[in-house]
Amino acid sequence: LHNFETKNSILNKFIAELRDVTIQKDSMRFRKNIERVGEVLSYELSKTLNYTPQTTVTPLGEKVIPLAASDIVICSILRAGLPFHQGILNYFDDAENGFISAYRHHEGNSDDFEVIVNYFAAPDLEGKTLLLVDPMLATGRTLENVLKGLVGYGTPKEIHIVSVIGSEEGISYVNSVFPETTQLWIAAVDEKLNSKGYIIPGLGDAGDLAYG
Ligand code: PRP
Repeated sequence: LHNFETKNSILNKFIAELRDVTIQKDSMRFRKNIERVGEVLSYELSKTLNYTPQTTVTPLGEKVIPLAASDIVICSILRAGLPFHQGILNYFDDAENGFISAYRHHEGNSDDFEVIVNYFAAPDLEGKTLLLVDPMLATGRTLENVLKGLVGYGTPKEIHIVSVIGSEEGISYVNSVFPETTQLWIAAVDEKLNSKGYIIPGLGDAGDLAYG
């Protein structure tokens, strides 16, 4: 678990603004802050990829620079994943991309819900570096269902889950259902979920805040 909450960095300002009940009403700023968190986490994650030295020719000579293989696939979960996806794509600009839909289906007025995943568009994942991105990790059931849905796309070489805010419960659940080598990159971890499965204090409904 790579939890960046414990570190003092510019990330804290973006997270504080995302959580702030007044500032978060500015949906353009909300989307931009999610995007900026995606950029910072991408930079941190990039340090753990495999690098091979490559020779770059400049107008006046040559320089050997370690570069990461371009085998990254960014798969994001609609809707709130969209601005996060863009932030990650800003840095891993030659990545392949996948999009997945997921929503919570409540039976009547019940707090209990089932996660429905019904749209997948993803490239072949066999042997690739998969970044599964969703700003909110509440119960972890969305990610669990997404993982099941991706089975037919091949086995990635490595899986990184990238998220903005997660609950302790959701993080343990995801750890129990994903392969052991999966790495989780997260900007903040909150203690609780309420009876509806929302993160407390969290930030509210990220999809609604970003897109209304
Ligand atoms: C939110 C969030 C995650 C999911 C997390 O999506 O973006 O996809 O809930 O919850 P879980 O860990 O308990 O599965 P939401 O259902 O609000 O959809 P939206 O982004 O389209 O609004």
